Amino acid sequence: MKKLILTILGLVLLSIPTCLSVKYNWYNTKIGGGGFVTNLIYNPGEQGLLYLRTDMGGSYRYDQNNKSWTPIQDIFGGSEWWLFGCESLGVDTKEPNRVYIAAGTYMSYGENGAIIASDDYGQTWKTRWDAPFHFGANDDGRGRGERLAVHPEQNNIIYFGTRKNGLYKSTNYAESFSQVASFPTDYDIPFILFVPGTKGKTIIVATDNSKGPLYRSDDGGSTFKQISGQPNTGYYPHHGAFSADNKYLYVTYANSIGPNGATQGAVYRIKLADYSFKEITPVKGSYETQQFGYTGVQTSGTNPGVVIVSTLNLWWPSDEVYKSNDYGETWSEGVASHAELDISEYPWLDFGKEDGLKFGWWIASLAMDPFDDNNVSYGTGATVYTTTDFTNADKNAATHWAPNVHGFEECAINDIEAPPAGPGNPQLLTALGDLGGFTQDDINEAVEMWTNPTYTTGSSVEYAYSNPQIVVSCGTDNAAYSNDGGHTWTPMKSLPYENATGGHITISGDGKVVTWVPNQSNVPYWTTDHGATWTKVTTCPQCTQIRPDGKNLTLMYGYDYQSVYLSKDGGKTYSKLSSGLSAGQLNSPFDVEGHLWLACTYWGGVQMSTDYGKTFKEVDPLFKTADSVGFGKPDPNSNAPYTVYIVGKYDGYYGVYRSTDLGNTWTLLNDDNHQWGVYNSKVIGDPNIFGRVYIATNGRGVVVGDDTSVVSNSNNNTPHRQTTTKKKTTTKTISSSPTSSNNCIVKYLDETFDCCPDGTEVAYVDEYGEWGIINGEWCGFSSGTNESSGECFSLALGHPCCDSCDVVSTDENGLWGVKDNDWCGIKSSCDASSITYLCPANSPGSDSEYSCCSSCIDIVEQDDDSSWGIENGQWCSIPFYCGY
Ligand SMILES: *[C@@H]1O[C@H](CO)[C@@H](O)[C@H](O)[C@H]1NC(C)=O
Ligand SMILES: *[C@@H]1O[C@H](CO)[C@@H](O)[C@H](O)[C@H]1NC(C)=O
Ligand SMILES: *[C@@H]1O[C@H](CO)[C@@H](O)[C@H](O)[C@H]1NC(C)=O
Ligand SMILES: *[C@@H]1O[C@H](CO)[C@@H](O)[C@H](O)[C@H]1NC(C)=O
Ligand SMILES: *[C@@H]1O[C@H](CO)[C@@H](O)[C@H](O)[C@H]1NC(C)=O
Ligand SMILES: *[C@@H]1O[C@H](CO)[C@@H](O)[C@H](O)[C@H]1NC(C)=O
Repeated sequence: MKKLILTILGLVLLSIPTCLSVKYNWYNTKIGGGGFVTNLIYNPGEQGLLYLRTDMGGSYRYDQNNKSWTPIQDIFGGSEWWLFGCESLGVDTKEPNRVYIAAGTYMSYGENGAIIASDDYGQTWKTRWDAPFHFGANDDGRGRGERLAVHPEQNNIIYFGTRKNGLYKSTNYAESFSQVASFPTDYDIPFILFVPGTKGKTIIVATDNSKGPLYRSDDGGSTFKQISGQPNTGYYPHHGAFSADNKYLYVTYANSIGPNGATQGAVYRIKLADYSFKEITPVKGSYETQQFGYTGVQTSGTNPGVVIVSTLNLWWPSDEVYKSNDYGETWSEGVASHAELDISEYPWLDFGKEDGLKFGWWIASLAMDPFDDNNVSYGTGATVYTTTDFTNADKNAATHWAPNVHGFEECAINDIEAPPAGPGNPQLLTALGDLGGFTQDDINEAVEMWTNPTYTTGSSVEYAYSNPQIVVSCGTDNAAYSNDGGHTWTPMKSLPYENATGGHITISGDGKVVTWVPNQSNVPYWTTDHGATWTKVTTCPQCTQIRPDGKNLTLMYGYDYQSVYLSKDGGKTYSKLSSGLSAGQLNSPFDVEGHLWLACTYWGGVQMSTDYGKTFKEVDPLFKTADSVGFGKPDPNSNAPYTVYIVGKYDGYYGVYRSTDLGNTWTLLNDDNHQWGVYNSKVIGDPNIFGRVYIATNGRGVVVGDDTSVVSNSNNNTPHRQTTTKKKTTTKTISSSPTSSNNCIVKYLDETFDCCPDGTEVAYVDEYGEWGIINGEWCGFSSGTNESSGECFSLALGHPCCDSCDVVSTDENGLWGVKDNDWCGIKSSCDASSITYLCPANSPGSDSEYSCCSSCIDIVEQDDDSSWGIENGQWCSIPFYCGY
């Protein structure tokens, strides 16, 4: 670790100070899945090799050692957003390092699909074939597959089943494809299978010819014929799988291509010796009970009789999975009915309701490890569950499942906000599609979704600049406010008009005036009484974007894509300041008055105003267009009061850009391998950590970027409190003196460094102080050399030093106080005699991890340790000065 930091700092040292090249570490806030998993695909050619594809959020490869997913389709970004859906993923059993993706999201939007080829498991993509037609990864029928099939022996040959253009074939590892002219129909082709044991000679192609969907070639693809003797059910085929002894093919069917609309279906077993069909459907729906179809099917890689299938659109109580050990002659009871699901790592999977947890729906992907019948995974509309005791189904006993989604993030994000750190303030607020919203005290912990109200789609969230405890949000059919940093909510007392929904909500800096522009209303409405009454804004009539000033608590800006308007009363009345502006996204940085930035969608690039929006100037002609602008903690080496982040096109390249000097110079932060599909809706910086950027994507969750020279790894350097409502004790003992025992710069983030001996030369200076090099390792100088940086441990964590020696909280970093509504670190100059512990819970000898209450609130409970109150939904220790 020490060595690594040395190299990074070393690089900085070698380059010219004014053009530092930055290196970013990209990851996600932890939500966990959150969208439809259209298939899970094992490659039986290599143990443990498993892929996941999605309809609009790219594809992933499973990392068996780390039990996490690695994104492999992030090469497609804003300018090719329609390639971020995965229509099909093809695996090569002969050379398992090879993998293929048919990229293309919609038949009727965007542009043509493309097939990309990798020979290193999807880490890099070597070739790309641009198809002359669209693919439909997010269209109906997307849970079926696979449309891509690689020849088991001549693995240069790859087939692709298209939706409207028949059968396609490549003979050069997918560098190019051409249509198979001899294929007899032009029905949609949902999957293609090479029959094992035939050296690639026998190929089965499933089509949507519901009168007899299966076609076969016995001559390696020269000719195809409809398989005779097929049942004429009128159903569509979904998936197929072979028994381990290659005697049978199983095919699932439904009367809809799915994932919705299926009311009938079946499972058939086809004997490969004579292509005779036998129906082996485990359970049939009925009009009286419930109607449903079948979709997923998988077989064991080792036990020939084992086959598993999943139902489609069995909504109550949930879709089912059945297992057979005798080629489908008899079936287990429903696996879902006996299953136990542990969602403690992703508590939102109960959808905010006590009885909201479902085994699953849209179980199109059902995957049994080819090397282990106990390891089964399935995808749902929201996550992937994995069990390692699947054979319990043989006894109709409970199977145990947990979400298996580390690193897999598929949510479509509508809004994000990162408030300044402070007691009770969350680290990130997120409003998003399907799951409503999240308030995370730690972006690395998944949480329960917002309730009361629970939005189907959360569209907007905002905190009051002067007090981040006050938060407002809106979404489907509702808007709400919170007085505890977004941890608990209360719906607005009424809507501005019947059926008002979604849109944008904001709040004046002083937290008094809430302005809501519902979706499809071009008019803002304000309230000062939690929505009991709403008043239409008449002086900014078409303003769909309203932003608070970053400093002056009563100033608000309105923008109607042409003009900027200013309000001096928190957003009730406005006057027009400018006109003839370009259309785009308006935003205001925190902590400065009168600054506004405009990211221009069509022309005008990026523009800045320092006079409240009266005049704007283009900051850099190389920015032609931009989608989003946000702000973060200033660069400690810059005089600029904030860092600007832009998602836009600079010098022809679409990406995430950063400026630490108010737009004079720009640095590109991401690259060709970090695109993430559509990421144009919102970018923000972090007010607490210089260099950190959060990006709202449409199908790749919230992407986080850390400047590796500031934050090594994905450390979370803000102190935060768990939102537990029960008191816990820890075994941690608290030393009676401050942790920073020596006056040297010993902490750099989570690293500890030795002091430099006298006479060491200063080799490098950064925001944390001066550094020297001794025996190839960094050392820090004592505070005698730099008084201000050696003062307290919290500077390195992005928090100021306290002015007083009053302690309100303690954690592994040291002793904390509060200053200007932020955490502050107790100075190393505070010694045991000058420190005041404000409450029992943080005094020496206590082993509590709770903080002092911020004022003398009511006692809720008393124990040997302290009197306890509740603040922001958590326990706090009543301060000594309250006298009770
Ligand atoms: C099955 O899963 C368990 C638990 O994750 C793992 O230890 C084991 O290696 C897996 N089996 C195979 C064949 O990968
Ligand atoms: C391992 O998993 C953790 C937790 O999901 C993740 O943060 C980390 O990036 C993963 N490491 C690799 C090398 O993928
Ligand atoms: C509000 O929604 C309901 C249900 O969709 C509809 O019946 C009603 O007409 C709507 N009212 C207005 C004013 O649009
Ligand atoms: C706004 O309404 C349009 C049309 O109904 C819909 O497509 C869009 O998703 C809505 N947006 C939000 C954020 O609710
Ligand atoms: C905020 O702006 C208003 C209107 O321009 C001005 O009167 C007021 O003095 C400002 N407040 C502060 C604290 O600067
Ligand atoms: C001491 O550190 C501060 C930052 O904490 C820096 O601004 C200042 O220049 C340093 N002083 C010296 C003498 O290097």
